Amino acid sequence: AMLTADDKKIIAQLWEKVAGHQDEFGNEALQRMFTAYPQTKTYFPHFDLQHGSAQIKAHGKKVAAALVEAVNHIDDIAGALSKLSDLHAQKLRVDPVNFKFLGHCFLVVVAIHHPSALTPEVHASLDKFLCAVGTVLTAKYR
Ligand code: HEM
Repeated sequence: AMLTADDKKIIAQLWEKVAGHQDEFGNEALQRMFTAYPQTKTYFPHFDLQHGSAQIKAHGKKVAAALVEAVNHIDDIAGALSKLSDLHAQKLRVDPVNFKFLGHCFLVVVAIHHPSALTPEVHASLDKFLCAVGTVLTAKYR
C-alpha cells in the first residue's frame, strides 16, 4: 500500500527517536532475525553469526544507514535505494519472504526500545514503510 501523508509524518517523527540508536537497532534486528528465522543465515555463510559478532554489528550499521536513506527520501525510496535494489535482486537473490522477517524484527526492536511510541497507528505506518523498503529491494528480480 502507498504511504500516505500521515504515514510519512509518523515515520519522520518516529525516526527522531530512533536516530542515535539506529546502528544498535540494526544490529539487534539482524541478531533477532538470525535467531527467530534461522533460514536467513544461509545468505551469510561468510559471516561470523555468533552473538556479539563484529560482522553483524558492521552489517547492522549498513542496514540502518539504508533505512535512514529511505526515511530521508520517503517520496522516492526506489531512487534512493536503487543500487541496493540491484544488489539484492540481481546479485544476492534473497528470497522476498526474508524481507518480511527482517522488517518484523526491526519493528520488534523499536517496540522494545520505544514501547510507548509504538502506538497501533505508528505500528501500522512503520509496517507500511518497512514493506515499502522490502518491495523496492525485491523489485528487480528477473
Ligand atoms: C547487503 C540493506 C534485507 C542479505 C546489504 C547492504 C545493505 C543492505 C546496506 C550492504 C551493501 C553494500 O555493502 O554495498 C538491507 C536492507 C534490508 C535488507 C535495508 C531490508 C530492510 C536483507 C535480507 C537479507 C539480506 C532480508 C537476507 C536474509 C544481504 C546480504 C548482503 C547484504 C547477504 C551482503 C553482505 C556482505 O557480504 O557484506 N543489505 N538489506 N538483506 N544483504 Fe541486505
